[in-house]
Amino acid sequence: MKHTDWYKDAIIYQIYPRSFKDSNADGFGDIPGIISKLDYLKQLGINCIWLSPVYDSPQEDNGYDIANYYDIYPPFGTLDDMKTLIKKAHEKGIRIIMDLVVNHTSNQHRWFQEALKNKNSPYRNYYIFKKGKNNGKKPPNNWTGFFGGSTWEKENPNSDEYYLHLFAKGQPDLNWENEKVREEVINILRFWLDLGVDGFRCDVITLISKKQDFKNRFPKLALTGKDAYINGPRLHEYLHELYVKAYADYDCMTVGETVLSSLKQAKNLVDPKRQELDMVFNFDHTDTDNYFGVKYLKAKFKVKKLRKVIQRWQDGLYQKGWNSLFIENHDQRRSVGRFGTCDQKYRVESSKMLATFYFFLQGTPFIYQGQEIGTTNAYFKSIDEIKDVEAKNMYALSQKNKLIGLLIKKYIFEVSRDNARIPMAWDDSSYGGFSSVKPWIRMNSNYEKINVKNAINDSNSVFYYYQKIIEIRKKYPVIKDGKYITILKHSNSIFAYLRKDKKHTLLALTNFKNKNIKLTKKLNLCDYKLLISNYMENDDNYLKPYEARVYLKEN
Ligand code: NOJ
Repeated sequence: MKHTDWYKDAIIYQIYPRSFKDSNADGFGDIPGIISKLDYLKQLGINCIWLSPVYDSPQEDNGYDIANYYDIYPPFGTLDDMKTLIKKAHEKGIRIIMDLVVNHTSNQHRWFQEALKNKNSPYRNYYIFKKGKNNGKKPPNNWTGFFGGSTWEKENPNSDEYYLHLFAKGQPDLNWENEKVREEVINILRFWLDLGVDGFRCDVITLISKKQDFKNRFPKLALTGKDAYINGPRLHEYLHELYVKAYADYDCMTVGETVLSSLKQAKNLVDPKRQELDMVFNFDHTDTDNYFGVKYLKAKFKVKKLRKVIQRWQDGLYQKGWNSLFIENHDQRRSVGRFGTCDQKYRVESSKMLATFYFFLQGTPFIYQGQEIGTTNAYFKSIDEIKDVEAKNMYALSQKNKLIGLLIKKYIFEVSRDNARIPMAWDDSSYGGFSSVKPWIRMNSNYEKINVKNAINDSNSVFYYYQKIIEIRKKYPVIKDGKYITILKHSNSIFAYLRKDKKHTLLALTNFKNKNIKLTKKLNLCDYKLLISNYMENDDNYLKPYEARVYLKEN
């Protein structure tokens, strides 16, 4: 089958299955629940779903710890449910991409269990076991991982060997140097592609190749050793192998989660000639409100910083590769209180403004569940409400280290990934129509107000705004292929840009501040037709708080 570029016309909606819709009253979202909401997604206008992991898993990291790649975690449903989902979604013109988590497995995976049982088992070399220092008293090196603390765990108290885990202890890293591991991954890919899935979001894919010296690295505030375990020497080779031995035979797409990769690295990863990935998720824009990419080191969000980052990626990949566009996912807190405001007065306007800011850039837009109704953070108040392994580990760390502890305690509720993981609010009934029983994590305290039912009943809602911008995106090719041009370069408040092709110029204006901002430069707005705005009335001289407008003119 020919590998086509359908992903360039995709509008992708990310579902976090445990929190989307519960169909069988166990307080846990499931695949039949997703099937029951396909018409809602169709009404929104999306044409592809990215499903966070539904594979069998002990759920230490909510499914990003897979125990069996060929089966479904029973509370999510069965393999037959998955087949039904693929079939029904396809009937409605909606493609399905799955999460591919192959940097690590769960420690409950049969391979890892076999590796632990017998040092001579061929599965031992599926993972990265190393002798500890000081006769096994100390870990093999000083690397630290993504959830805080050492990346090494002793396999058992009597052994002098440790296994590598860049995430939780229950997520041992696979040894991609072993070609058997790569063969297994190829089999997994082909299994799901044969079932009809349309592609993969490749979890932390830039971590799969590690420098093999496993030596100490210069200690860092976070991620000591990252130069050895991110963007490793064989990354491109491995990705190309997956392409040739799996993707090339299907009309599928891949988007790689490329943690801490530069634009230069990304250019290679998505260069179509190299046949590695179709798109990458970079996080430069979601790091514009922190220092050094560490979310606990919060910084004031600045439009200028955002503009710089967006321009770099828009220019950098223009006609060389393809961007992914997103402002939220299951690892990020909600965007509206972060780059906009949750205040009663402007929550709706600022949600729409953020939608406008990123939807008209070049690339494929992703919408995270709930974003389309302007969902806010959860306002956690106690650590007991938090379920996420990352936050729990960080909290434990905060008890040990006073200084880091202060920072963690200050921001943990605001930056916790659980903010994006609480159940989707479908209506104002108890448990928000997500479930008829108490969900696995609490609902948002504002679900009676911010929910899908209210959004559908309000023609002015964020939902209909998304519906409209999706329609506009599909209509004008300039949004897909036009050149990105920054304007109003010096503004601290307005993010504005043009998109230009032979036929059209599109102009997007977004005000990130909660006050009126004068339009000092002449933009000749009267030459343009207004396509959409989040205000009923607009003034050519200024933008209102969080105002957004998109214009179009023929060249
Ligand atoms: C990135 C995923 O998005 C995140 O949720 C997960 O914890 C890590 N990778 C580990 O798989």
